[in-house]
Amino acid sequence: MDLQVAGKAALVTGASKGIGFAIAAALAAEGARLVVNARDEEALAAAAERLRETGAEVHAVAGDVAQAKQVKALLARTKEAVGDPEILIANAGGPPTGTAAAIEDPAWAKGFELTLMSAVRLARGVLPAMRGAGWGRIVFVTSLSVKQPIANLTLSNAFRAGVTAFGRTLASEVAEHGVTVNSVAPGYTATERLDELFADDYARARLIATIPAKRFGEPAEIAAAVAFLCSGPAAYVTGQTLLVDGGVVGTTF
Ligand SMILES: NC(=O)c1ccc[n+]([C@@H]2O[C@H](COP(=O)([O-])OP(=O)(O)OC[C@H]3O[C@@H](n4cnc5c(N)ncnc54)[C@H](OP(=O)(O)O)[C@@H]3O)[C@@H](O)[C@H]2O)c1
Repeated sequence: MDLQVAGKAALVTGASKGIGFAIAAALAAEGARLVVNARDEEALAAAAERLRETGAEVHAVAGDVAQAKQVKALLARTKEAVGDPEILIANAGGPPTGTAAAIEDPAWAKGFELTLMSAVRLARGVLPAMRGAGWGRIVFVTSLSVKQPIANLTLSNAFRAGVTAFGRTLASEVAEHGVTVNSVAPGYTATERLDELFADDYARARLIATIPAKRFGEPAEIAAAVAFLCSGPAAYVTGQTLLVDGGVVGTTF
């Protein structure tokens, strides 16, 4: 299938490694013109270089999406580099962990800025040009926790549900302008984030036993779903959450 994203300007945040990098690689392979973002400038430059080796046009813009001013600067530099983004992938690292009863206000505030407001600010920033052009694709990377809360990931559970509700609301507002807004909800995916969360072999083996596919997902498998939602053929899919979780969430809907 031709995804019809060749030549499109795309901004992928949280893209120096893991799922974000895989998404950038998938869009680069389809011929999108990319701006990739993460906080660590050196790691980001190395990631951009790896993407360029495939022949893609890739610009690296470092910045913290949890900070409003830096989001504004990122959007301005993206516009300079590739023009107004036609595709936005809002992704970042996960918020602090902790049980629901124990998490204190400062961590809640951090999770709010990192997980919810980064998505809101990025989407608001790209929307006017997408609406004006009559074409746009926004994809939020969330988590299976939006369907099934994960123990000890209270902030992820709470704020990703918020991102999902924000996206669903926005999707109806902008559908008539050719802009789609969807979420991809990864299950347990083999990245550094997963290594941090499930460091010992016993915990990993127990986790894998709960996954119907009996393995972790690969970042490229999440990226493939994202790339489809960014495509021309996905024009009539909006307001949705696509789980890519190896069957973990067992509900009918
Ligand atoms: N892996 C999983 O099993 C899994 C499952 C469900 C959901 N998720 C969610 O999917 C997202 C990506 O996960 P991942 O496993 O790919 O994580 P990862 O391997 O930790 O990669 C996170 C990426 O985001 C960047 N980043 C982190 N904080 C940022 C910020 N404030 N501003 C800009 N960039 C930032 C990181 O680079 P810098 O540190 O240099 O900024 C890195 O490039 C996370 O939100 C995670 O919670 C992951």
